[in-house]
Amino acid sequence: MKKEELILTEKEIYKGSLILVNEKYGIKNGESIDLSEAAPNVFLQREAANRLKEALKKIKAEDKIVLVSGFRSRSEQSEIYKMSLYENGEEFTKQYVALPDHSEHQTGLAVDLALKSDSIDFIRPDFPFEGICQQFREIAAEYGFIQRYPKEKENITGISFEPWHFRYVGAPHSKIMEEKGLTLEEYTDYIREYGFYNRLSFNADDAGEVFYIKFDAGSGEKKIPLSEKESLTVSGNNRDGFIATVKKNDK
Ligand code: DAL
Ligand code: ZN
Repeated sequence: MKKEELILTEKEIYKGSLILVNEKYGIKNGESIDLSEAAPNVFLQREAANRLKEALKKIKAEDKIVLVSGFRSRSEQSEIYKMSLYENGEEFTKQYVALPDHSEHQTGLAVDLALKSDSIDFIRPDFPFEGICQQFREIAAEYGFIQRYPKEKENITGISFEPWHFRYVGAPHSKIMEEKGLTLEEYTDYIREYGFYNRLSFNADDAGEVFYIKFDAGSGEKKIPLSEKESLTVSGNNRDGFIATVKKNDK
């Protein structure tokens, strides 16, 4: 039997596949995350790892595209930041490496990909706009991944163009973001225009709806009524509320 309401608490704002992690919004969920090995020694959150493996299999890229970096602990991110400062200087490092606790690699939802070669640059891997890499790019959104740091959005993301860095947000969000050309910063803002009684409809694979749930700080918990016919999933936005996804055809 389905529950008739969903109870959301403040700490859940900081969890889920749609959390926005950037210069302004740091990692707040210190709890352990469910990681799975997506490639030897490269870990991602289980759902992201599975979807990535499916996407690579679909285009037969398993031996052509390399997973360079997935989940990083806080101390790993800190080491990378320090190493880059030493090797590349401050200007470069600020453009391409997030500060510890502000890197989405610490969520296990981000992955850097490279075209397989004998020498791969760890911070800026080569992921060309042609061949197998371009094929991946074209199907990424179908599998829930977005190009997180696009060109000409540097002032919004705070990071330079990174054609190799993909972020798992899950479908249909990845598709809506791609279709509308929105970064995660813009999408989490855009969704705030929609609410429980005024939902954004989508028709990607399954039909459904997306809406924003504001969490009033200090209110303890928020209750969302659940209809038996709807299957509702919720992710925090890492800011001030939640993004709810309703898939109409789910049983
Ligand atoms: N390269 C991205 C911005 C990171 O370090 O998380
Ligand atoms: Zn990255």
